[in-house]
Amino acid sequence: MNQNPFELLKTSSKSKARLGKITTAHGVVTTPIFMPVGTEATVKGITSRDIREMEAEIILANTYHLYLRPGTKTIAAAGGVQKFMGWNGPMLTDSGGFQVWSLKDLRKITADGVEFRSHLDGSKHFFSPASVMQAQREIGADIIMAFDECTPYPSTVEEANKSLEYTLKWTREAKEWLDANPPILGYPQYFFGIVQGGMHLELRKKSIEALKEICPDGYAMGGLSVGEPAELMYQIADFCTNLLPADRARYVMGVGTPWNLLELIRRGVDMCDCILPAKHAQDGMAYTSRGVLRFKNQRFAMEFDKPLDPECNCYCCKNYSRGYLRHLFKTKEPLGWTLSTIHNLHFYIHLMQQAKAHIADDTFEEWAAEQIPLLQRNAD
Ligand code: GUN
Ligand code: ZN
Repeated sequence: MNQNPFELLKTSSKSKARLGKITTAHGVVTTPIFMPVGTEATVKGITSRDIREMEAEIILANTYHLYLRPGTKTIAAAGGVQKFMGWNGPMLTDSGGFQVWSLKDLRKITADGVEFRSHLDGSKHFFSPASVMQAQREIGADIIMAFDECTPYPSTVEEANKSLEYTLKWTREAKEWLDANPPILGYPQYFFGIVQGGMHLELRKKSIEALKEICPDGYAMGGLSVGEPAELMYQIADFCTNLLPADRARYVMGVGTPWNLLELIRRGVDMCDCILPAKHAQDGMAYTSRGVLRFKNQRFAMEFDKPLDPECNCYCCKNYSRGYLRHLFKTKEPLGWTLSTIHNLHFYIHLMQQAKAHIADDTFEEWAAEQIPLLQRNAD
């Protein structure tokens, strides 16, 4: 069975930037979109009220983590991950392919799947394409991802091809399993394939051609932001979007900085997710309209009149000063983490809202070219 949740609304006349929407049972997502990461069915440190207030439209959770704790059957019993976490909006689950691949010494990859040891207690588990699809059926995300192998960087053509062959075999098996086992929670779950092939253009092409035959509901680009230079990542994404069908959603997994997002949108990407804004919030780093602000710095200790970003209207910036945030970080108070996470995620989402408005009035390219150097500066 094949369904397409994506509708292409507009393509820019000056670049490949596009506007679209994805319709799910838990709401409509307007693209381009950034998805906050909620690995353990929580966007770390913030409430679902915060997630709604920052106008996030879709969030991401991880099959690997939810399979280990609380167990996917528990989430099914709660009525799906959306209800379980009190968010009730659209959700996407990553398949666990990337997470088990990241376990390095704890996993063994074969043609049938991945045997791995839990990072929690060392217990042994096996993920096959079918078992991972079943887990995602139980978690109940609106968009579920193919089980893939992320190709390391750098890789030879032979290595990347072997890895791609696994991903394609697993994607075929996953699609077959899904067609034979419809959703159990009473709403559609769209299936996205993942393009791999490392940095080898001929393999990326082979990957896309094979995926088109399998015919998933949308397409992701994986194996990016794995240590390659940013320019190379842009080139691969650009190459892939030239070959992917225009009427389906395109998602780059695990990328990136605010400027990475604008560069990818220009190349025809609709969806991104990244741990970066949440992770940097924990490290005392804020993305702002004036660049990157390291607010743990001593020089902010007496700034009581300035928020992290004077142009931001998030809950953190409307109510708290840099001096106070620095204090919270110095004393390791959990509120510091909560507030800076709210700011960074709001900043990403607001940037996407601006991108959409500029694509709508055909000024995206000029606006993005002006923004990119501003975003990359050290803020004062
Ligand atoms: N997250 C970041 N990169 C990847 C990837 O290549 N595959 C999957 N499944 N998730 C990712
Ligand atoms: Zn803010």
